[in-house]
Amino acid sequence: MKKNILITGGAGFIGSHVVRLFVNKYPESKIYNLDKLTYAGNLENLKDIEHRENYTFIKGDIVDGEFIGLLFDKYKFDGVIHLAAESHVDRSIANPMEFVMTNVIGTVNLLNAAKVHWKDDFRGKLFYHISTDEVYGSLGEEGLFSETTAYDPHSPYSAAKASSDHFVRAYHDTFGLPTVISNCSNNYGANQFPEKLIPLFINNIKNNKPLPVYGKGENVRDWLYVEDHANAIDVIFNKGKIGETYNIGGNNEWTNIDLIKVLCKVMDKKLGREEGTSEKLITFVKDRAGHDLRYAIDSSKLQKELGWKPSLQFEEGIEKTTDWYLNNQEWLDNVTSGEYKKYYEEMYEGR
Ligand code: NAD
Ligand code: TYD
Repeated sequence: MKKNILITGGAGFIGSHVVRLFVNKYPESKIYNLDKLTYAGNLENLKDIEHRENYTFIKGDIVDGEFIGLLFDKYKFDGVIHLAAESHVDRSIANPMEFVMTNVIGTVNLLNAAKVHWKDDFRGKLFYHISTDEVYGSLGEEGLFSETTAYDPHSPYSAAKASSDHFVRAYHDTFGLPTVISNCSNNYGANQFPEKLIPLFINNIKNNKPLPVYGKGENVRDWLYVEDHANAIDVIFNKGKIGETYNIGGNNEWTNIDLIKVLCKVMDKKLGREEGTSEKLITFVKDRAGHDLRYAIDSSKLQKELGWKPSLQFEEGIEKTTDWYLNNQEWLDNVTSGEYKKYYEEMYEGR
C-alpha cells in the first residue's frame, strides 16, 4: 500500500492507536494526523512514532472548512480515516453545541473537501467514517444491534454521531463518494482520557477517591480492547466494500457494577491492598439523564465477510490496561492537572 492517508483525531484515544498501527504497518504510505488538540488530544500518546519519516502531525480544526480544503490541495490525500469527534456523553449533556460543531459540521466539511478534490476520479479513494454503536439507541435485555437496526439516538453525543453517519451515507448515495462506516462498542485500553468509566475508576481507585456509579450500575455495555478496534479499522479500510457499514464489537457484555467489581479486585491485587478494599469506594450517585440501558453488538458481518475477530479476552485486556495506567503515572498526572479538576467538580459535585 502506497497512499497518502489523512487520519483525523489521531492524537486522541483510539486515533493514536490507529496512527501507530498505520505508521508501523505501512512504511510506504504517508500518514497525516490532523488534530485540534482539545483536552482529549495528547501528542504524548504518539511519542514513540513522532519522528518517523512517513508521519506528519497537523494541528487544526475540522470545523474550519477553508483550512480543510487547503489541506486536501496540499497533501493530495487518497484516503481519510475520520475519528475526530467530541466523544464523551456527559460533556454532550452539559454542552451539546460543541458536539454539533465538531461531529456534524466537521464531518460535512471533510466530506465536502473529499467530494471537491476527488471529483475527477473516485477510483482508489476512500472516506472511512468511524462511528459508535450508540447511534442505535438502547436495547432491552435481549437482542443485538445489527447493521440494519434503525437509528434511535438519545444523547446529544449519539444524536450528533448519528447525524454525521447520515451525511456520510448521503454523500455516497447522492454524489457517489466512496465511503465506508463502522459502528463500534465501548473501547478500553491505554491512553483513554480519565473521564470515561474504566480510566476514571482506575485513577480514583489509585487515589482512594469515591467511585461514582450512575443509578444502580445495572446498565450494560459491550467492551472491546482498543488495539482490536484499531485492527478492525485496518481490515475495513483495506478490505471493506464501498457503501457498506460494519459493526465492531467484543462479544463481551458487562453490567457496570460487575465490571467495576472486577476492576476493584484487579487493582487491589496490583496495589497490594487487601481484597475488598477498593469496592468500599463504590458510591451510587444520581443517574445520567437519558442513560441508555444496554448496548450489544452483532459483529458477524465483519467476522464472516472480512475475517476480523477480537484477539484479547477481557481479563487479559483489563490486566494490560491497569498495568499501563499504573506504569504511566506521568501521563495520568499531566492529563488530570489543571482543567481536569474543574471538569471533575462540575460533573460530580452534588451528584
Ligand atoms: P477522544 O475524545 O479520545 O479523541 C478525539 C480526538 O479528536 C482528540 O484528539 C481531539 O483533540 C480531536 N478533536 C476533537 N475535536 C476536533 C476538531 N474540531 N478538529 C480536529 N480534531 C478534533 O475520542 P475516542 O474515544 O478516541 O473516539 C474516536 C472516535 O471513535 C470518535 O469518532 C468516537 O465517536 C468513535 N468511537 C469511540 C468509542 C469509544 O469507546 N471511545 C467507541 C466507538 C466509536
Ligand atoms: P462511558 O465510559 O462514559 O461510556 P458510554 O456512556 O459512552 O457508554 O460510560 C460507560 C458506562 O458507565 C455508562 O453506562 C455510564 C457509566 N458511568 C458511571 O456509572 N459512572 C461514571 O463516572 C462514568 C463516567 C460512567
